[in-house]
Amino acid sequence: MTNILCIGAGYVGGSTMPIIASHCPQHRFVIVDINDARIAAWQSDQLPIYEPGLDEIVHQTLGKNLFFSTEINRNIAEADIIFVSVNTPTKMFGQGAGRAADLQYWEKTARQILENSTSSKIVVEKSTLPVRTAEAMERILNSNGNGLHFDVLSNPEFLAEGTAVHDMQNPNRVLIGGRETEAGQKAIESLVEIYAHWVPRERILTTNLWSSELSKLVANAFLAQRISSINAISALCERTEADVNEVANAIGRDARIGSHFLRASVGFGGSCFKKDILNLVYLCEHYGLPEVAQYWEQVVTMNEYQETRFAANMVTSMFNTVAGKRIALFGASFKANTNDTRESPALEVCRALLAEQADIVITDPHAMENACYDLKELATRVVFEPDPYIAARSAHAIAILTEWRQYTELDYEKIHHSMVKPAFIFDGRNLLDHKRLYKLGFNVYPIGKPPLTHSLINHS
Ligand code: UDX
Ligand code: UDX
Repeated sequence: MTNILCIGAGYVGGSTMPIIASHCPQHRFVIVDINDARIAAWQSDQLPIYEPGLDEIVHQTLGKNLFFSTEINRNIAEADIIFVSVNTPTKMFGQGAGRAADLQYWEKTARQILENSTSSKIVVEKSTLPVRTAEAMERILNSNGNGLHFDVLSNPEFLAEGTAVHDMQNPNRVLIGGRETEAGQKAIESLVEIYAHWVPRERILTTNLWSSELSKLVANAFLAQRISSINAISALCERTEADVNEVANAIGRDARIGSHFLRASVGFGGSCFKKDILNLVYLCEHYGLPEVAQYWEQVVTMNEYQETRFAANMVTSMFNTVAGKRIALFGASFKANTNDTRESPALEVCRALLAEQADIVITDPHAMENACYDLKELATRVVFEPDPYIAARSAHAIAILTEWRQYTELDYEKIHHSMVKPAFIFDGRNLLDHKRLYKLGFNVYPIGKPPLTHSLINHS
């Protein structure tokens, strides 16, 4: 039996470890966190994150070979392999502020591992980290002088929220980076064996440490770049009467381009894309590559433009003012099937409309609590309403900001009757049947397609 510990019970630690545990019944898994409430929630009927299919897996393994605890030190002492998935947010102070990763939790965790270890261990970076962090961690961990040896591996997580269980059960690839020394290769093999319980060997890639660390940043940068590319084209489509969905379909049929991640939207959100690109930008600047840094930074700039453009288009289309107008925002999470609101474009649109003095009502099937927390400084100016019908009542406009399937199933005729006329729908996800909505009387503003309006002056 191997004792496997994960430090950090967030979206990454909390969704990956139960799945690994379910495939490795012979090993013992403990997940620790400094947050008592989170640890309690993982052991309750209401998991701290909404992730389809995860409840069942946690339920199957909890108390058998999976345990949650706040006793970090004791569990470090007992562990053979330690995964670290504490958060690494963008640094908001000092050198690299606004770009570099804030490694304070990571370094503190490394020192805590060192202080509480009485045996040699493998330490696995699961958090996304700047390239060469493993080297710093090795130096801290192996500075002990008591004969203990720590192997640091990089094993970035590629799962996407909302499909985490599926992604983890059937990964395209698992990436494990380690040192090219004998000890490093042995450590890699220990981790390969764990994944090989359910992942075909040919999908387990092993690389050097730096390639593995960098690949995570690059994968996210490439994915985000595709969204910014199609969003840039959506702006052009809106001016030229081309339809961005038709363009995406036409280019995506080219196997060299491929059809994934070409959905034009109000913008990408989530805890990873922006943070990882800014991290990449910082690294490029640090290594004296300003042109490369600027190239990638533009992906973030384009995303901010798309969010701002969406909100500005709402204002212009609604006769250049939304002050005092009730506007219902459908969706707060950064994508469907998650309660995560980190960097959600919905909240950016909300802030922009509040700055225009609109009366905002937010509805979301799972993310209201997080949205309410994120907007706490504006809480008195936002109404949170779980029922979309009530949210839309007496509103001038609805903005679809998250692609929840529920929103395709609403009775829009009933909704239209309850709204102030002319009634507007701004579909930031191209989710709804626009022609049908138009026939019901709505003025419809999709992304990357000409609007469908009833004899309104087009102000764009
Ligand atoms: C992850 C990764 O770790 C991050 O690098 C990646 O890019 C984004 O996703 P995530 O699991 O989503 O983070 O973050 P979060 O949900 O905030 O979870 C981190 C957990 O670590 C929190 O529960 C926090 O309480 C815990 N933590 C943090 C510790 O236990 N110890 C610390 O010192 C700091
Ligand atoms: C991402 C990566 O996909 C994953 O591999 C990595 O481990 C973590 O970061 P995640 O942020 O959970 O995952 O979700 P993802 O599905 O990538 O969506 C990110 C954002 O892009 C969402 O706001 C989503 O709505 C948006 N998006 C995605 C688009 O706007 N258009 C698309 O075509 C795809």
